[in-house]
Amino acid sequence: MHTILLTGGAGFIGSHLTRLFVKKYPQYKIINLDKLTYAGNLENLRDIENEANYKFVKGDITDLTLLRRLFDEHKFTAVLHCAAESHVDRSITEPLAFITTNVLGTGSLLQAAKEAWASDMDGKIFYHISTDEVYGSLGEEGLFTEETAYDPRSPYSASKASSDHIVRAFYHTYKLPVKISNCSNNYGPYHFPEKLIPLCIHNIISNKPLPIYGKGENVRDWLFVEDHVRAIDVIFHTGKIGETYNIGGHNEWTNICLVRELCRQMDEKLGRENGSSEKLITYVTDRAGHDLRYAIDATKLKDELGWLPSLQFEEGISKTIDWYLANTEWLNHVTSGDYQKYYQKQYKV
Ligand code: NAD
Ligand code: DAU
Repeated sequence: MHTILLTGGAGFIGSHLTRLFVKKYPQYKIINLDKLTYAGNLENLRDIENEANYKFVKGDITDLTLLRRLFDEHKFTAVLHCAAESHVDRSITEPLAFITTNVLGTGSLLQAAKEAWASDMDGKIFYHISTDEVYGSLGEEGLFTEETAYDPRSPYSASKASSDHIVRAFYHTYKLPVKISNCSNNYGPYHFPEKLIPLCIHNIISNKPLPIYGKGENVRDWLFVEDHVRAIDVIFHTGKIGETYNIGGHNEWTNICLVRELCRQMDEKLGRENGSSEKLITYVTDRAGHDLRYAIDATKLKDELGWLPSLQFEEGISKTIDWYLANTEWLNHVTSGDYQKYYQKQYKV
């Protein structure tokens, strides 16, 4: 039995995680604390919003007074911490928002949990959801393991690295029962169309240019979001306190090959002539400090906890495209208003 404070549940990964826990564990209570930034959207949770074991609270993880009140009111036994500013490009233009939410927000959550659990840490879990970007950039060879030294390069990854360090500091200093996972790039339904895959799906639908940074040779290791939240479930329930687990897809793609695969599948699904979407590919100025390659070694998670990704990438991408084609109303909502301003500023169009 757990009463869980889940942060950032209205975002991409958070909404999948909320759905999994609400449906799979009816005996748990899930309180979703989300500020509803541009990336948070309660439409992502429509199918579970009336479940008896689920409640939404609008609020900011940097608000320690609110956090103390919520801990007092709900007597949380666990935290699943997903809330963050998550987009690298935005961190280049607005680094302070990332430092505020990702560093100060995580610190405030840790402080509230430490105070609430001071007299009894038994059975409690503070689970911090993090990223492979904390390890920096790989060359053409090698994989990130849990022992890889941190070497973050963007304001986003530096803020996530800082938060990881602070989580570990609370474990070592105060014996707060923490767990951390560092995952590679996710994709799937409800992914906000500022990130490469949903942005390209959206632009192919609307016949707009597909902006590829630099030469398109950067490599990412893609994992279907439902596989990520399944891994979080396994680590939450069977992972060891104080440990870190890498989660990855064993699925490396250069950006250009990935976008070509998207174009191929979308031409087929939209009944367009093969090769027509590829003509939308447009090379644009590279991202500042663009990390060359990420790739995860998830052996520890497989060997110790038995987790493996379930989907082949071509199948996952096909499911993802089908979801976007079936949910154009969602896509239209999230790409109206402020999204247009962001897009013009970022891509100068
Ligand atoms: P997202 O941007 O889609 O969602 C973030 C959510 O956090 C939103 O609902 C937003 O409203 C909320 N939020 C932001 N600031 C807040 C604040 N101050 N207080 C309360 N809520 C706030 O992000 P995502 O892609 O779902 O990522 C979720 C987590 O997973 C992040 O910690 C991210 O670093 C990590 N992660 C993401 C990926 C990926 O590929 N997307 C991969 C590995 C790890
Ligand atoms: O590795 C995990 C990380 O993956 C998460 O921690 C981040 O929250 C998540 O946003 C993601 O970061 P990336 O920077 O790798 O994802 P993004 O989708 O922004 O970019 C993927 C690759 O595509 C990257 O090499 C940059 C490139 N790109 C991106 C955009 C938005 C383009 O070429 N053109 C684009 O327009």
